[in-house]
Amino acid sequence: MPKISHTAAYIVVKFYGLTKFPEIAKKFDPFVLDFYKNMIGFLPSHLSWYQNSLNSHLLRKFFIWSEELLLPGDLMHIICRKYYMTKLVDEALKDGIEQVVSMGAGFDHLGAYASSKGISSFELDVEFMIHEKQKFINASGYESDQLHFKSVGFEKKTLAESLNEIETFDSTKKTLFIGEGFFDYLPLETSKEILKNIRSLNYQNQLLTTFFSLDELNWFHRFSFTSGVSLVGESLKLPLNRAAFIELLKEFSFSVDKEISYSEMEKDLVPSIGMNQPVLKGFYILNSLMINR
Ligand SMILES: C[S@@+](CC[C@H](N)C(=O)[O-])C[C@H]1O[C@@H](n2cnc3c(N)ncnc32)[C@H](O)[C@@H]1O
Repeated sequence: MPKISHTAAYIVVKFYGLTKFPEIAKKFDPFVLDFYKNMIGFLPSHLSWYQNSLNSHLLRKFFIWSEELLLPGDLMHIICRKYYMTKLVDEALKDGIEQVVSMGAGFDHLGAYASSKGISSFELDVEFMIHEKQKFINASGYESDQLHFKSVGFEKKTLAESLNEIETFDSTKKTLFIGEGFFDYLPLETSKEILKNIRSLNYQNQLLTTFFSLDELNWFHRFSFTSGVSLVGESLKLPLNRAAFIELLKEFSFSVDKEISYSEMEKDLVPSIGMNQPVLKGFYILNSLMINR
């Protein structure tokens, strides 16, 4: 039976809970805060119950304490991830990006956010997730002529084939491809095929991704991370560390023009919200442009 992606759903729960702290909430556009507030209420009941329980300061402190014990920095990486990804999307839009494609969009806000700014946006995910997302978007008033959904199955159709089936997708437009928490869940061959497709669709395309270099975690934290993902029936499949992922990007003509590491996030964003928490080791955000544009 198809089921929702719990890795995607827990990102919503964690983000919502943390933005109950006013200092953290101040860092986000009200659109983003409202989106996740609406989204947590939409999740199935075994997840949406967090919406009320996270109102309790004491329970929030308890969740933070227990999470930090198992995987230090996991919670703060969610805040950093949403903050910097939104900022980099804003920058890309200012720099003239004409279309946005969010791969493995899950329950995130970036497609709706970009479309609210008048940019044609495409959310891609597996069939059940896309169906759920679309239901949420329509029920919560985020629907727009600029926001489109497409289910993908990379074992049957390539990224380019799926996108070219969408009438409103225009491959001549300079497009930002987003992979937030996406490539980590794909086998190497699928990742290669996707990078090849992004390059072949338009040489002006840009790629914004997150990346977890699991080799930077100690064995216990690596075990916590991978077993947490397996427990909800998903798995991390990309067998690469940071250097090898950047090499792979190069192989397909992408050159990283901006890289934000967990340690930079720790020095930049975390102190500005008055917190003293680590950011998950090995977490990176990479913005890549095509070589020979
Ligand atoms: C960790 S979640 C990230 C969700 C969202 N981008 C975020 O960061 O909040 C991973 C997402 O990738 C999707 N995904 C995993 N494998 C996929 C595949 N082969 N094709 C399309 N989507 C996939 C999952 O369904 C899930 O929504």
